[in-house]
Amino acid sequence: MTMPDLPTNDRFLRALRREPADTTPIWVMRQAGRYLPEYRATRERAGSFMALAQNPEYACEVTLQPLQRFDLDAAILFSDILTIPDAMGLGLSFAAGEGPQFDRPVRNAADIARLAVPDMDGELRYVMDALRLIRRELRNRVPLIGFSGSPWTLACYMVEGQGSKDFATLKAMCWNQPKLAHRLLDTLARAVATYLIAQAAAGAQVLMVFDTWGGLLGPAPFREFSLRYMAQIVAHLQADSASREMPVILFSKGAATHLAALADTGCGGLGVDWTVDLADARVAVNGKVALQGNLDPAILRASPEVIRREVRAVMDSYGNHPGHVFNLGHGITPEVDPEHVKVLVDEVHAYGRRLREQ
Ligand code: CP3
Repeated sequence: MTMPDLPTNDRFLRALRREPADTTPIWVMRQAGRYLPEYRATRERAGSFMALAQNPEYACEVTLQPLQRFDLDAAILFSDILTIPDAMGLGLSFAAGEGPQFDRPVRNAADIARLAVPDMDGELRYVMDALRLIRRELRNRVPLIGFSGSPWTLACYMVEGQGSKDFATLKAMCWNQPKLAHRLLDTLARAVATYLIAQAAAGAQVLMVFDTWGGLLGPAPFREFSLRYMAQIVAHLQADSASREMPVILFSKGAATHLAALADTGCGGLGVDWTVDLADARVAVNGKVALQGNLDPAILRASPEVIRREVRAVMDSYGNHPGHVFNLGHGITPEVDPEHVKVLVDEVHAYGRRLREQ
């Protein structure tokens, strides 16, 4: 499958650099996913989620699917944050309609001592092959985002062995055996930095770190167990020639009170969930970073009129300033009507133009 050659769209990169652009760029977290019938068909052909993610041709195909339907301003590698623990030997599977599951969760000092940074040309080569293929097929139409989970969020799944509401098993380790928790997080921080640098070398143009469960922590533990390791990763990326110039977006869900501290890591952008007013988030980050967000994904279940109104409310809250990347405040959910995503994308672009004329 080949995309038509179109002029390079650099709205997303411009917004991340906080430079003016013709309108507000938009992409959607989980834009390649189960709400699209063509995604479900490719997944069916692949046989399982992991078979889909580990085959570069399939991964490329589903990465491009949402771009064929909608006027999106970025592509995101089709993969998962749990590729790192899988490559570390934990044995990842996704039962149909259920969350992730590890055959061999990490529970004690011996389990943690065994973990090593995976080989980017070995166990994780499929990710780099997918990125190279996607870049070729995209023909610079829009920038390509590479990503990883944060050390904290990866550790949540690795210690729990599956999804959870509170990830209390890792939290208990943080209180009872803090040295052990730090050893795990330190190994993960090195793995994530190595992984993102390899993704940059393979063609990713923007890097994003998903800290989905950072908001489970109180203020001091957030700084100690989540923020500190993301700051290390940003520093690593800025020290490597492959990733030095590359914008890094950090997304800590539920961490509205930490926006200023997150901006101080030196990242280029921050993802923001829908519990924050973007006007307040702008004040908190004081012009240091771009902001990405933050429509409540549940609004996509509402009528087109309501979606348009809520899109405008998010954009009015940010105001007519450079540095806004429109997105949802978390991933799109499977029951959303794809027609509603078209309404969303087109309204962001149309209203972004109107805002700039004011
Ligand atoms: O955004 C994109 O389009 C790129 C692909 C992407 C996926 N997962 C594909 C996926 C990205 C960026 C992720 C990140 C991810 N994975 C996160 C962080 C972002 C977030 O949503 O908070 C997390 C926590 C995971 C772990 C994960 N993967 C869970 C908990 C699940 C099961 C829950 C679910 O939504 O079903 C997955 C599976 C998964 N990853 C799916 C997709 C499209 C659905 C699985 C399927 O097709 O059967």
